[in-house]
Amino acid sequence: MSTVHSRQAFGLEILKNSHPDIRRLKKESGEASLHGNKFWKSTFVLMDYLNECPPDPGSRILELGCGWGLGGIYCARQFGAEVIALDADDSVFPYLEHHARINGVNVDTIQMRFEEVTTEDLTQFDMIIGADICFWDSMVDPLRELLERAMEAGVERALLTDPGRPTFRQVGEEFQQNYDAVYTDWDVPEPHNAWGLVLDLYNS
Ligand SMILES: C[S@@+](CC[C@H](N)C(=O)[O-])C[C@H]1O[C@@H](n2cnc3c(N)ncnc32)[C@H](O)[C@@H]1O
Repeated sequence: MSTVHSRQAFGLEILKNSHPDIRRLKKESGEASLHGNKFWKSTFVLMDYLNECPPDPGSRILELGCGWGLGGIYCARQFGAEVIALDADDSVFPYLEHHARINGVNVDTIQMRFEEVTTEDLTQFDMIIGADICFWDSMVDPLRELLERAMEAGVERALLTDPGRPTFRQVGEEFQQNYDAVYTDWDVPEPHNAWGLVLDLYNS
């Protein structure tokens, strides 16, 4: 059941910033520095799209720019995925770990920037996911190059969602032209009221 301090969505409990547990974590762990300071709604777009186009059961998934990690937590819970959640800012991980715990799954974490993930690292994964991770001009090249390394490494699929920022559109349009990719807008119905862009990239 949703309350003033939390919501139930896609079978998960997601805490709001006003929740006592989150307020306690903020005191203990401090504030995130790169916008990983809350659950961002592009993750609803990711979850809803995954309901229509799910990953293979038991996939090894890397979540990029995980923040509170609800995308990866959803994949672990709903599809039995083995998830590693990556973020440049390690202050997001206590929030992810708390959400993993209350939702009854385990997700491993790693502190790393997109630029640092090597082709060899990426060979461990079947799929990449990411929500709202291309919001500055300076993120376009690192993300584009990471996706290229992922295709080279044999990652089967990369699924990214975004609220429609020009920086993400640049990446989406480029991969739509040059790769086997679905690039589309996506409406998440009531009660979530989210809209976003989806880039679903396949390794062919
Ligand atoms: C807008 S938040 C989105 C968080 C989460 N995906 C969600 O939808 O709730 C962007 C996240 O990307 C992370 N991030 C930003 N730049 C990054 C980089 N170069 N490498 C890895 N993570 C990065 C931030 O720390 C933050 O957690």
